[in-house]
Amino acid sequence: MGIRLIKISVVYFMIGVLFGLYMSMTHDYSFTPVHAHINLLGWTALTLAGIIYHLFPAVSQTKLAKAHFWLHNIGLPLMMIGLFYLISSGNEGIIPVIAAGGVLTTLAVLLFGYNVLTKLKAE
Ligand code: HEM
Ligand code: HEM
Repeated sequence: MGIRLIKISVVYFMIGVLFGLYMSMTHDYSFTPVHAHINLLGWTALTLAGIIYHLFPAVSQTKLAKAHFWLHNIGLPLMMIGLFYLISSGNEGIIPVIAAGGVLTTLAVLLFGYNVLTKLKAE
């Protein structure tokens, strides 16, 4: 689970910096929220979670870890693809998708936090 998350986080990183480079080259900063959240919630947060899962197997071998993994990796793409679509098309009908993605991602992080607080012990 830890290694898988680290690999997935690197994919978010590659997509995130591509948005950064695109914005720098075009001086079009409208995608800043997509860039910021792919990098922060995708790359930074998931790499750290992956390292924690790898270092502490007791934390990774729980149903909460599985739930975190799936909710985070379903919620974040939903939120980011929705936000990308909203910014590029202006179609506000997509907002419920962004909101649902944001709620799933937040739920994922809360489960991750609870899992770490209850299962992480000095080994
Ligand atoms: C090659 C890599 C990167 C490039 C070219 C790049 C470029 C940019 C650009 C052009 C902006 C918009 C600035 C503006 O609105 O004035 C931005 C904002 C931002 N970037 Fe990056 N970025 C890169 C990597 C990263 C990484 C790795 C992270 C986080 C882990 C990050 C986090 C942010 C955040 C949080 C903002 C929003 C800042 C704000 O709202 O004030 N960026 N970046
Ligand atoms: C599911 C969790 C999250 C949701 C739903 C969320 C939502 C939002 C929203 C609605 C904004 C305002 C965007 C705008 O007005 O342009 C925002 C901005 C921002 N958030 Fe988050 N956020 C989340 C998690 C995070 C995390 C974990 C970080 C940092 C580690 C973060 C860093 C930022 C930054 C730097 C900005 C300013 C970006 C910009 O200038 O466009 N967010 N976020």
